[in-house]
Formats: sequence, structure tokens, C-alpha cells
Amino acid sequence: MQILDGKKASQAIRDDLKIEVAQRAAEGKKIPHLAAILVGTNGASETYVAAKVRACEEVGFKSTLLHFEESVSETRLLDKIQELNTDPDVDGILVQLPLPKHITDEQVINAIDPEKDVDGFHPVNVGKMVQGLDAFISATPHGIMLLLKHYKIDTRGKHAVVVGRSNIVGRPMSILLSSNNNPGNCTVTVCHSQTKDIKEYCLQADIIVAALGRPGFITADMVKEGVILIDVGITRVEDTGKKSGYKLKGDVDFETVGPKCSWITPVPGGVGPMTIAALMKNTFRSCKLRN
Ligand code: GUN
Repeated sequence: MQILDGKKASQAIRDDLKIEVAQRAAEGKKIPHLAAILVGTNGASETYVAAKVRACEEVGFKSTLLHFEESVSETRLLDKIQELNTDPDVDGILVQLPLPKHITDEQVINAIDPEKDVDGFHPVNVGKMVQGLDAFISATPHGIMLLLKHYKIDTRGKHAVVVGRSNIVGRPMSILLSSNNNPGNCTVTVCHSQTKDIKEYCLQADIIVAALGRPGFITADMVKEGVILIDVGITRVEDTGKKSGYKLKGDVDFETVGPKCSWITPVPGGVGPMTIAALMKNTFRSCKLRN
């Protein structure tokens, strides 16, 4: 069992970016600027957005955090997005999901200028990604592809089983893994809540991407020897031994599944840090394209 260390890979990407940003600054060029919108007081969302802002600081980007109350109206949010769309200093806009129930995610995502949509959620970017055109690829799937690349994992011709079909992870992951790229060129099966026998498909998998948000769902009896396991789950589960009162648990039962894997991502320290590295890369790319 070898570890796909997201912390290390993410650091390597951020170190490279830091150098490139310093170079831009030295040449008098514009520094990337990410604007992050957070609504309400969801603890996990607050943690993720804080980590994104910290990463901006570390690589030398400018960042703006706009924190709205849970009760903010959709109109107010749309107005703010419009303002950011037309602000020439802003290169990337992200709206942390989930949003409160009275706000429609789709309306908000569609309001972001696709050229500033560094989260890659806008239908224009999703459509381009599906067609294999240059696009902002959403941060978690992009981060996973960067992680596979960093560890030179040969995915060509492999059978990848993606468990989960969300717009944020499962669906784009299935498209990227099947694309004619390296990494890519997999034969992909997508499993979801209506799949009759997920275990049967997982047992045939050379690569499993577990992105369903059910802690410990993938167990040792569901995987074959030598599988490559990408665990996207990060559920907070109670842990009275921790100061915070919780620990993060992945969708994979690491203790029993790990020994059967050729490669596996830990939780935390696997996919999570890669999401941030990918977001930084997308923001940098937006800045370069627009300036
Ligand atoms: N919520 C869960 N994952 C993500 C993400 O990658 N970006 C945003 N904006 N919200 C999320």
C-alpha cells in the first residue's frame, strides 16, 4: 500500500505557483485575485473557505472574503456577483456550496461570468469540459487528476468505478477519467444510489473514486487486490477524544481496505488539499488569460 499524499502534492503545486506569482509581481504584472462568497454559519463551509483564503495568502494572491448572513436574499447575492463580474481586479469568483434553502444554487452559479468561474460549476465550463475544450475544471476533480499526474499513475485502459454522480465530483470525474488524456483513457462505470449491486462493480475496478459522502461505505470485501482508491469523502463524525469533538472520516474504511490497495488517498490529507491546489491553479490561469 502506497499513499497518494495530497498534502505533499498540493504543497509542490503551491510552491511552483508562489514562484510564478513572485515573477509576475517582479515584472509589474497583475497578481491573481480570488473573491470568495460564504453564506451563513455552516462550520464545514467556514473551515473550507478559510483554508482557501489562507492558501491565497501563502501563494501571494490577493483574496476577498465576502461573508453574508444566512438570511441574505438571492437578489442581494446576485447583485454582488454582478459587481464582481465587472470588477477588473477580480480574476476568480467562488460561491461556497451548499447555500441556504431559500437560494437556488443554479441561479447563483449561472450568474458568475464563466471566465471568472474558477470553481468550474458554470454550464459553459461544464459543457467545454465534456467536449474536451479548454475550461475551468471544478476544483475537486481537477485536484484528483493533478494528484494522479503527480504520482505518475498509469490510468490508461483501466476500469474506473466512480461511486457518486454529483455535479461537483462524481459526474465530472467520470468524464475526465474517460477523456483522451493522461491521466484519463479509462473505461468508466458510474454507480449511484439506484445501482443494484455496487459491490459487484467495485470488485471489477482497477480504480475506485468514492464520492458519495457515506463514511466507511467502501469495505474490504468490495475491492480487489491492487486497486487504486481515491477517497473523496470528508464527513465529520463525533470523536469525544478530539478538542473539536469530531474527526473527518472518508467514504472508505481505510484500516481494512488500505492493505488491499496499491495506492490510496488518506482522509484527511488526500483529496482535500488537492482541491485547494486546483482552485489556486484555476485562479492563476484566469489571471493570466485576462491580463
Ligand atoms: N462545496 C463542496 N465542495 C465545493 C467546492 O469545490 N467549491 C465550492 N464552491 N463549494 C463546495
